[in-house]
Amino acid sequence: MKAIVVTDQAAGTAGMKLVERPEPQAAINDVVVQIHASGFTGNELTWPSTWTDRAGRDRTPSTPGHELAGVVTALGYGTTGLSIGQRVFGLTDWYRDGTLAEYMAIEARSLTPLPGDVDFTVGAALVMAGLTAWQGLFEHGRIQAGQSVLVHGAAGVVGSMATQLAREAGAYVIGTGRAAGRQTALDFGAQEFVALDKGALEDVGKVDLVFDVLGGDIAKRSAGVIRAGGTLVTVTGPTEARPSGGLTIDFVVVPDRAQLSELVQRVRDGRLRTNIGKVAALDDAVAALNPTERIKGKTIIRVHS
Ligand SMILES: NC(=O)c1ccc[n+]([C@@H]2O[C@H](COP(=O)([O-])OP(=O)(O)OC[C@H]3O[C@@H](n4cnc5c(N)ncnc54)[C@H](OP(=O)(O)O)[C@@H]3O)[C@@H](O)[C@H]2O)c1
Repeated sequence: MKAIVVTDQAAGTAGMKLVERPEPQAAINDVVVQIHASGFTGNELTWPSTWTDRAGRDRTPSTPGHELAGVVTALGYGTTGLSIGQRVFGLTDWYRDGTLAEYMAIEARSLTPLPGDVDFTVGAALVMAGLTAWQGLFEHGRIQAGQSVLVHGAAGVVGSMATQLAREAGAYVIGTGRAAGRQTALDFGAQEFVALDKGALEDVGKVDLVFDVLGGDIAKRSAGVIRAGGTLVTVTGPTEARPSGGLTIDFVVVPDRAQLSELVQRVRDGRLRTNIGKVAALDDAVAALNPTERIKGKTIIRVHS
């Protein structure tokens, strides 16, 4: 089968190669999925799990991409709950070969049925952004109707999802980003927008919850705009920043069937939309994932159609 592999950490995405690889086998409780659409997160090649297994041993050549939508083609020993021919989507294990391939083996528990009226491209684009936004707002941020929420990077892939979900939950949403992202953030439902390259973050006043996707200095300064007892949720790694009397929670997204079902239902009834910037075929994926100019929104690779 065709798959993208990486072997050279220093090369970054420029080191991606489309090669022939053996077809995967389904282990206990796995399924094999024929990938129809695959998603890749920009900084995956900096994650240790791309390069080593859980014991720290080299696992290259490894196949990146952790978001998928596709069709089940084989069941491993003992696998229940899914059938051959079923449309599925989900988030894959960081330490296993991923979704930039024609087929992959994946634990059945990581997959959710994808309704027949939802395109594979949309399914793949929903997985990482949708789960990250959901877990950040509802599980870690414990968002409540009537609260004010500051969503950093609100025109981006995760931020646009968080903006829509926070609005639907009854929060007042202030988006941030670069000035060029203002209209996109407002279109996704932000009620106000702060351009971090034009004004100061501190201009927003006080909020109950910050959802941070930018990290660094922005994460640190965000603690200062949170009301006493509020929460800073970040997905960019641990930070020392703490809101006064409140909590800082850094997390990495996990697969969750029930949450993906909730998310895809919102897509079906028009309450939620994905932020897709570019769609390319697997044969063109290396070029698409090494763009010469910045692509706004998610790049989705269509593998089978
Ligand atoms: N921990 C987890 O589980 C998890 C899960 C998913 C994603 N993430 C991380 O979350 C981050 C965001 O991912 P994404 O896919 O949403 O990226 P994205 O689509 O590039 O979104 C980032 C947004 O923030 C804007 N932005 C970036 N730097 C900025 C700055 N210095 N000042 C103002 N605006 C800025 C970007 O604008 P431009 O487009 O103009 O640059 C873009 O609109 C990544 O680091 C990703 O690895 C973590």
